[in-house]
Amino acid sequence: MRSKERLLSRKNANRIGKINDLKPLTSSRWSGRTDLVQGDRYDARWKQLAQSGQNIHGEADFVEAYGPLSVLDAGCGTGRVAMELYRRGIDVVGVDLDERMLGTARRKAPDLSWVSGDLTTLELGRTFDAAVLAGNVMIFVLPGSEKAVLSSVANHLTTNGVLIAGFEIKPDAISLAEYDSVMSEIGMELAGRWSTWQRDPYQGQRYAVSTHRRI
Ligand SMILES: C[S@@+](CC[C@H](N)C(=O)[O-])C[C@H]1O[C@@H](n2cnc3c(N)ncnc32)[C@H](O)[C@@H]1O
Repeated sequence: MRSKERLLSRKNANRIGKINDLKPLTSSRWSGRTDLVQGDRYDARWKQLAQSGQNIHGEADFVEAYGPLSVLDAGCGTGRVAMELYRRGIDVVGVDLDERMLGTARRKAPDLSWVSGDLTTLELGRTFDAAVLAGNVMIFVLPGSEKAVLSSVANHLTTNGVLIAGFEIKPDAISLAEYDSVMSEIGMELAGRWSTWQRDPYQGQRYAVSTHRRI
């Protein structure tokens, strides 16, 4: 049943991805950076970490604990989180606007649903049990686009769906107070906050993992 649903959703996402491809994609704070490694080189760093014995799937472990049958990996990059969730039997769709990052994801896992799209205007025409913004996506979206991003991601959740985001707290990016305030404006309330994907308590650290659900 799960794999049948997965096939159907993949077909749907591929169709929607093509429609989305027709729209001009805007930029992000990620695409504009020349000092950050992209695509295959970004992916190689995670591979190195995995080879050194580190668990690079803390996000997937965290998301899986909610028991979702379907997950939107929003700002999926090279697909690290989506691929792991898919390997664990979850129906996933990865969305990103950076073709260098998505190119790596597509090469590594051609059978998964990869959508080239801007999170500010995303309309996939389907919902998910969970959506995850992993790997600092919230500090790489264009300043001022945060509400549009969170609103369109939240619109892709089922009624009881959970929106999960992990990002660094930096002076030049969205603060946790701003994040919660935007969430509240779009009808989502804080359900939990930790300082790591392993659920260490949040006590003002410079990294936060937050979950929000519809009010
Ligand atoms: C640091 S990478 C994280 C990739 C992946 N989530 C991970 O954890 O490995 C941040 C990603 O956010 C994406 N991004 C930023 N703004 C976006 C937007 N408006 N729409 C889609 N993707 C966006 C970037 O293109 C980039 O791939």
